[in-house]
Amino acid sequence: MSIKKLLYQFDTDPLPSVFDNVVGYDGGADHVCPYGGLHAANVGPLVEGAIFTRAPQDKKNTAIFIGGGSLAQGEALLDAVKAKFFAKFRVSVMFDCNGSNTTAAAAVACLAHDRSLAGKRAVVLAGSGPVGQRAAVLLAREGAQVAITGRKLAVVETARDSIKARFAVDVEAIEASGSRERAAVIEGAQIVLATGAAGIRLLEAAQWRESTALELLADANASPPAGVEGVGMSDRGVASHGKLLFGPLSFGALKLAVHRACIARLFEQNDLVLDVNEIYAMAKAMVTNDR
Ligand SMILES: NC(=O)c1ccc[n+]([C@@H]2O[C@H](COP(=O)([O-])OP(=O)(O)OC[C@H]3O[C@@H](n4cnc5c(N)ncnc54)[C@H](OP(=O)(O)O)[C@@H]3O)[C@@H](O)[C@H]2O)c1
Repeated sequence: MSIKKLLYQFDTDPLPSVFDNVVGYDGGADHVCPYGGLHAANVGPLVEGAIFTRAPQDKKNTAIFIGGGSLAQGEALLDAVKAKFFAKFRVSVMFDCNGSNTTAAAAVACLAHDRSLAGKRAVVLAGSGPVGQRAAVLLAREGAQVAITGRKLAVVETARDSIKARFAVDVEAIEASGSRERAAVIEGAQIVLATGAAGIRLLEAAQWRESTALELLADANASPPAGVEGVGMSDRGVASHGKLLFGPLSFGALKLAVHRACIARLFEQNDLVLDVNEIYAMAKAMVTNDR
């Protein structure tokens, strides 16, 4: 009997992500089974189905991918999945809600490639979202002093508290309701990473070009208009006004490669949990100057 590689795509959104489904196949799964509307209270029987069905040596051919638009709901789902595992009854899991881990890992790996970020001030604009929160964790792990912004203080503070609770990482929460406020927040920062919602302009060109402190400027938003005016989609360390610019497509290619490589790794053993640290290690190992 040939053992098929089965990927169970557990999504907290009602409609499971097509993007994650496609990358599941491209990463090497023989079959990707998408489930939507999952949460901590209804996932149990699905996990049992995954862990009890195959012989110990074959369990590595079953794996779980956790996605969905809400980082908090996804984290609760991951915790519930892991809570079902015991002894050798477990399968490998990857966590990447809204591409949070793979996108943040690729962006920060590009920013940190061949240079130290230690001691620098980093501002993650619109850092309350999934990508921004994970990027904040990784920038802090690289030794940067990190602040995240959002339009409402309560929302940014919730993100800050969630980062602290899950990763024991301290970041500053700053309210910045408009582009003028965001321009004020990046004053004195050496690193700015924009992680705003798709198609949302966060910063005008004139608001960063004159900054004397700014060294590295990156934008994750690939849907026009650019999140940061003046950063080209494919910029990869392009010098402009004394800063190095990184556009969404430049680290998007690395993000996709890392995502596929992580899926492939899931089927190598049955006890992996690929979350922010493991995915960042993959991105650091895969980043090159010309990807
Ligand atoms: N380059 C790549 O390979 C790649 C891969 C995946 C995702 N992405 C992109 O990465 C970005 C971040 O993804 P995500 O899932 O974290 O995004 P998200 O959750 O959709 O949005 C991030 C934050 O944007 C802020 N925001 C929403 N509407 C806004 C508005 N009208 N004005 C100002 N701020 C607004 C919100 O913060 P507040 O409500 O706190 O202000 C929100 O938390 C997106 O642009 C996404 O398309 C890129």
